[in-house]
Amino acid sequence: YVISLFSLLAGYLIGSISFAVLITRAKGVDIFSVGSGNPGATNVLRVLGKPYGYTCFLLDAFKGVAAVLIGRGLSLQAGLDPQLLGIIGLLGAILGHSFSLFLKFKGGKGVATTVGGLFTLLPLVMLIGAILWLIVFLISRYVSLASLVLGVSLPVSAFFLKSDQASFWLCVFLAILILVRHRANIQRLLAGTENRAGRSRKS
Ligand code: G3P
Repeated sequence: YVISLFSLLAGYLIGSISFAVLITRAKGVDIFSVGSGNPGATNVLRVLGKPYGYTCFLLDAFKGVAAVLIGRGLSLQAGLDPQLLGIIGLLGAILGHSFSLFLKFKGGKGVATTVGGLFTLLPLVMLIGAILWLIVFLISRYVSLASLVLGVSLPVSAFFLKSDQASFWLCVFLAILILVRHRANIQRLLAGTENRAGRSRKS
């Protein structure tokens, strides 16, 4: 239990580091008051351009990778199941990213961190999600719609690929979190006012 708690906390601390805030602050921009107002890679790209957006995506994704690896590393020390401890680490990182310790519990929508973490934990499930993301994005030019489809695909793929129970429930949790964090995007999509790639509108 102590090791599980430690993985969760380590993940939470790593996840709490908001690269969107760090990158935009360095450029004198307040990410919360521009574009969609979301401290995530999509909004960084929207306001600072592709190199900054992609960098933010990679760094946020790496938080997920790091949290899984730390969880796994700790499991080896204690002789526990590495997949389970990796899952707990990633849960911590996603919660940290979405409800950051350093941002008064505000944060991003967790998609980049999910992508990094799941590529490490469940590569096939994540690959299917990433392919779906790309297809939906290329057709619609809505990052949010692509992210929502990615999120919903995770438990479905985990189910059909017969992932272990803990991984399946992680995917269920991630899908729900991604849906909830995209509430404003869903409303804008339904109203026809969502930002398409290349344009911006305040949420
Ligand atoms: O992962 C976030 C993305 O799906 C939407 O971002 O800034 O358009 O709300 P944004």
